[in-house]
Amino acid sequence: MAQRLPVVDLSGVLANDGAATRAAAEDVRRALTELGFFSIVGHGVPWSQVTDIYEQAARYHRLPAEVKAGHTMSATKMGYNPFGAAQKGDRLPALNAAFFLARPGSARNQLPTDVELPGFSDAVCAYYRTMDKVGHTMLRLYGLAADMPEDHFAQYFDPALATLRLSHYPDVPAENDQWGIDPHSDAGFMTMLPTNPVAGLSIKPEGGEWFEVDQEPESFVVNAGDMLRRWTNDRFLSTVHRALNTSGADRYAIPYFFDPRPDTVIDVLPTMVDAEHPKRHEPLVYRDYLSAFMRDGYAPVRGEGTTAPVRGEETTAPVRGEETQLAD
Ligand SMILES: [Fe+2]
Repeated sequence: MAQRLPVVDLSGVLANDGAATRAAAEDVRRALTELGFFSIVGHGVPWSQVTDIYEQAARYHRLPAEVKAGHTMSATKMGYNPFGAAQKGDRLPALNAAFFLARPGSARNQLPTDVELPGFSDAVCAYYRTMDKVGHTMLRLYGLAADMPEDHFAQYFDPALATLRLSHYPDVPAENDQWGIDPHSDAGFMTMLPTNPVAGLSIKPEGGEWFEVDQEPESFVVNAGDMLRRWTNDRFLSTVHRALNTSGADRYAIPYFFDPRPDTVIDVLPTMVDAEHPKRHEPLVYRDYLSAFMRDGYAPVRGEGTTAPVRGEETTAPVRGEETQLAD
C-alpha cells in the first residue's frame, strides 16, 4: 500500500518569512527524527526543468553502448556505470545503469559532446546548479531543525560535494531478492529525488514494514544519509530504502546527493547530547569516512565505482562509494 510522506513547504523560507521558516524547520525536525524521509513542495524549481532532465536521462541512456563506454567511470572520473555493474559481494547485480555528474567544470566529469548528444551537457549542468541552490536552502532548515544557528551548516558546503545521478531501470524481470537498487541507507548528508512519473521507491522505517512511496506531485523526496545521522548523534534517521521497476516500461530516476566538503570534521552537534542522549560517536573527517568505502571493497576497486574530490572540487581521488552507487 503506497503511502505519502510528511510534507515540508519551502515557500515561506524562500520568501524569508521568519515564522514560516521556523515552522518548516520544525516539520523537518519531526520528519527526520521519526522517519528520515519527507517531501518538499514550494521549492521554486520550475517543473519543466525537472521533466526535461528526465528526458535528458532517457536520451543519454539511449545512446549507443560504444558512445557511453567512452564515459566509463574510473577511480578518478565520474561518468557512466553500465547495467549490471553495480554488484556488492554475493548479491545479484542491481538492475540499473547510471550516469554521474560532479560539479560543472570539474575535471572529474566525463560528458557526452554536443555532437554525441546536443544540449545534454548544458541542461544537466544547469540542473545541477538549480539543485545546489535548493540544497543550500535546505541547510538553513537543517540548522534550525538541529537547534543550531540557521547558517551553521553553510560553512561546510562551500562548495558542497554534490553529485547528480541519472539512473535507468530497464524493463527487465527481477529474480527473487533482486532489485533495481538493493536495500540501503544513503551514506552522505542529504538526498533529493524529484517526483517520478513511474513509481518504484520503497522505504522501510525503523521498526516498521516496507511501504511504497506515493510522491506528492511536483515535489522532491528528501532523505538523510548516514553522515547526517552520525552528526546528529543518531537523532536524525538514515532510513533504509530500495527501488524496483515493475512498470513494464523503462524507469528513470534523477537523485541529487548533497554532501559536505571532504575536509569537514563530523563531530556530534552539542545540541544533540544530553543526559538521555550521551555522545555516541567520535569526530571524523568526512574524507576519511568516504575513503573507508574503498577499504571496504566498494566500487572503484571492482571497476564499478564513483568518485569524489578529496580536497576542494578539482582534486581527483577515488573516495565516494555507496551513496552514489546505490541511492535511488
Ligand atoms: Fe539511496
